[in-house]
Amino acid sequence: MLISFEGIDGSGKTTQARLLAERLEAAGYRTLLVREPGGTELSERIRDLLLDASLDIEPLAELLLFAAARRQLVMRRIRPALEAGYIVLCDRFYDSTTAYQGGGRALKDLAWLQNFNLWVTENLVPHRTYWLDVPVDVALARRAQLYPDRMEQADPAFYERVRNTYARLAQEEPERILRLDATAEVATVHAEIWADVQQHLAAGTRFERGGFSTEKSC
Ligand code: TYD
Repeated sequence: MLISFEGIDGSGKTTQARLLAERLEAAGYRTLLVREPGGTELSERIRDLLLDASLDIEPLAELLLFAAARRQLVMRRIRPALEAGYIVLCDRFYDSTTAYQGGGRALKDLAWLQNFNLWVTENLVPHRTYWLDVPVDVALARRAQLYPDRMEQADPAFYERVRNTYARLAQEEPERILRLDATAEVATVHAEIWADVQQHLAAGTRFERGGFSTEKSC
């Protein structure tokens, strides 16, 4: 089972991904938590480049770097873990590319990016995606104390476009993407996620520990 966490910077998705990983491990599930960009040595090095505020990165080059980091992570860690029966939690996955490079940067249209994303992952689609939705001003206020990385130097209008793109994706794929009100307390959001995960785990043998695939044929 592959679960991704999405949202604008400051939405609290990293906290939620960690809490779910701990909860699953405590319940006896073999769990792998990875972040994007990152999760392999190559992908972490690409992450350093992408977030380096002193670097000028041209928008298409940026897209390709995110894609390269994801490709390496999928092939070297996520697929092997899924095949070994792990529940894999991704702190961001390809919806970030559609939302940030597609919506935020307006680099390519969304359909083009969605196809591109599936090409990069060879049709590996998250089984469930939690979109932690928070108004842009709330997210920016949460992050005000932190030193911004290269991606976080964008203005509020950029984040509005990213958020709107998440909203569109959630509308397009309601069976996969669940919107959560991320202005709520951490414990409340976690409880919603845990309840949803449990439902999926209980729903049938295809979500048993091991032996299922999140691949979609196309
Ligand atoms: P993240 O790890 O959430 O940042 P932080 O550790 O500071 O909370 O994500 C790094 C940044 O990269 C974030 O601003 C979102 C951006 N991003 C994209 O623009 N496209 C992508 O495909 C991904 C995965 C991330």
